Amino acid sequence: MGIHYDDGARVFKLDTAHTSYVIAITDEENFIGHAYYGASIRDMDVSYLMRTKEAPFVPSQNNRDRSSFLDTFPMEYPGNGVGDYRESAIAILDENGNTAVDLHYTGHRIYDGKTGIPGLPATFGDETECSTLEIYASDSVRMLDVTLFYTVFEDVDVIARSVQITNRAKEPVYLTKVMSTSVDMDAEDYQMLTLHGSWARERQIEYRSIGYGKQSVGSTRGESSHQEHPFVALVSKGATQESGKVYGFHFVYSGNFLAQVEKNQFDSLRVVMGIHPQDFCWQLKENETFYAPEVVLTCSENGIGAMTRTLHDLYRKHLIRSPYKNKKRPILINNWEATYFDFDTEKLLAIAREAKKCGIEMLVMDDGWFGYRNDDNTSLGDWQVNEEKIKGGLKNLVDEVNRIGLKFGIWFEPEMISPDSNLYRNHPDWAIALPERTPCRSRNQYVLDLSRPEVRDYVYEAVASILRSTNIEYVKWDMNRQLTDLGSAYLNRENQGELLHRYVLGVYEMQERLLKEFPKLLLENCSGGGARFDSGMLYYSPQIWCSDDTDAIERLKIQEGTALIYPLSTMGAHVSDCPNHTVGRVTPFATRGHVALAGTFGYELDITKIPAEDREQIPQQVAMYHRYNELVREGDYYRIASYSQNHEYDCYGVVAKNRMEALFTFVQVLNRPNYHSRRIYLQGLAPEKKYRIELGRENGEASILYGDTLMHAGIQIPNMWGDFQSVLLHLTAVEE
Ligand code: DGJ
Repeated sequence: MGIHYDDGARVFKLDTAHTSYVIAITDEENFIGHAYYGASIRDMDVSYLMRTKEAPFVPSQNNRDRSSFLDTFPMEYPGNGVGDYRESAIAILDENGNTAVDLHYTGHRIYDGKTGIPGLPATFGDETECSTLEIYASDSVRMLDVTLFYTVFEDVDVIARSVQITNRAKEPVYLTKVMSTSVDMDAEDYQMLTLHGSWARERQIEYRSIGYGKQSVGSTRGESSHQEHPFVALVSKGATQESGKVYGFHFVYSGNFLAQVEKNQFDSLRVVMGIHPQDFCWQLKENETFYAPEVVLTCSENGIGAMTRTLHDLYRKHLIRSPYKNKKRPILINNWEATYFDFDTEKLLAIAREAKKCGIEMLVMDDGWFGYRNDDNTSLGDWQVNEEKIKGGLKNLVDEVNRIGLKFGIWFEPEMISPDSNLYRNHPDWAIALPERTPCRSRNQYVLDLSRPEVRDYVYEAVASILRSTNIEYVKWDMNRQLTDLGSAYLNRENQGELLHRYVLGVYEMQERLLKEFPKLLLENCSGGGARFDSGMLYYSPQIWCSDDTDAIERLKIQEGTALIYPLSTMGAHVSDCPNHTVGRVTPFATRGHVALAGTFGYELDITKIPAEDREQIPQQVAMYHRYNELVREGDYYRIASYSQNHEYDCYGVVAKNRMEALFTFVQVLNRPNYHSRRIYLQGLAPEKKYRIELGRENGEASILYGDTLMHAGIQIPNMWGDFQSVLLHLTAVEE
């Protein structure tokens, strides 16, 4: 059990294998204070760290009635408007128009295991894997009960936090802000590490220094977004992959979010993370409860790489549920970049036949198979097969693909509605729109109002009936626009502010139903590339399409940022044709294969039309995938060099948990004159083990070196002729 309570000192201590988190209750007021989060400590009562006896700016030693006390006290879940001017974790609007919340400890419960969060994705673990502390707090004036949840995953060094709020008053109250976590800490010299991006440029790594005041990332787009990411880390100055202190905060949610760091007048930091308060207003009637999504917290003294591996392990063990999570995924070929909307049964079957010859295992039919969808102007919502394209119907196509020896997968965009669709003509009020305003179109489409139960039922049945009709083993669930014009014809006036969160709950509910009815289905989420690549969606799908940018070089940065917090097994990555459809770059087919190998691996090209010399490489790439996928999927990830920092080359690797095998990928993005070879220092190996090194491609002599030599003295990677070249280094431990 990683949770202890000292009754006398009124202190809770949460211990993971390498970290401690200490919460203390103040004697006089029953405030729930935050004493410590960091590397493991032995002492339990470190409540002196809360400095309750040294109120600043007041002559007396303990002037606790002054706002200056509340404005410095490290509060575990800060209320609103009663003296703490830093960001509050909660705010309300009550029937008098007041916004204040003042929370005090009332009790707690500690138990083994973890309970789920109704309607929301969340990490899980049984009684042997985790333990949970529930702290009860209450605002006795407003009759609001708050439960703070802390689950300790000892083995993976993670604490998962969430919050539930119940209104005990007769009158409704409106929640206008509910953060899922708040952590106060001293402002050492940290930098803020975040992920930013755009379409085709998702999850680029950025560091910034932390100034006084508030700095944040967030989304108000209705999804986690291409632009900013529901993740923030505090990284001590000079931290590297292998050294330095790092705190990671990651939101398990797929909608609007705020991740904010605030540095105050006394040089302390407050980090808050939760649903973005903009456009959020949730009505709670008497005895109703609001469930806030979860945040996972991790702290490492061993650099950024340790945080990465912690999150990878957490998600692989305690978040992803799919039966595919520890399995090789079928190598798929997707027809999007091959044909766009211009395809029919014959074209698909020609691709399937050629794919089969090369060892590819599944054909995925992308956008354009339904209604009259020959471009992106029409038919979303009309999920009936277009028999002009799919002659003989879907079952006939699937049977034929199965006969060829491939599995079959299909694309949907269930959350959307085209203005030019029968669905919209029959139910214009099913689209999210504001009264008297024409809603904004994006990719010529509107968003369905998923707060409406009948909309969810319609969409679910549309998808499920297609899946019931034939042998479909994979679904790509796409979502190609962000939300605007936030109005629901279904919700009452006092519930309009719930639309964004209810929308996300609707997506979760539909995917949960899908997985219940089709438990063997391989689900891949997608959103105009990677705009909803987040840990919330991983609860439903073991893989997510990473980006519409399939260029191997652009992918280096996108996959580096994604792998910073997500396991490689979750990153949808395909080999596509050149010149690349997004950037026009021409890269070697082998490099495209090596880069896609770091993800789920598949193809996105017209295999009947690509150059023969490329096609001839596919069987070798297929063999490479089968040989290395288990290692890539299950191993520990190490970032060795970053093209986004050095602008010349990239290197990363995976090492088996038992250190018996490793695979490193080196990409020489730009060649330089006079570079004969480049030194690389490997990581993650067992120092005392000897490794046989096979250098893929040009195949020099295999050499045998100790792990410590490879990590401290390094290895020379031979120079390769030309730009965009790559090589795999496969290491196997040699039994003595
Ligand atoms: C966006 C996705 O990211 C693409 O892969 C493709 O499925 C298109 N949508 C189809 O409209």
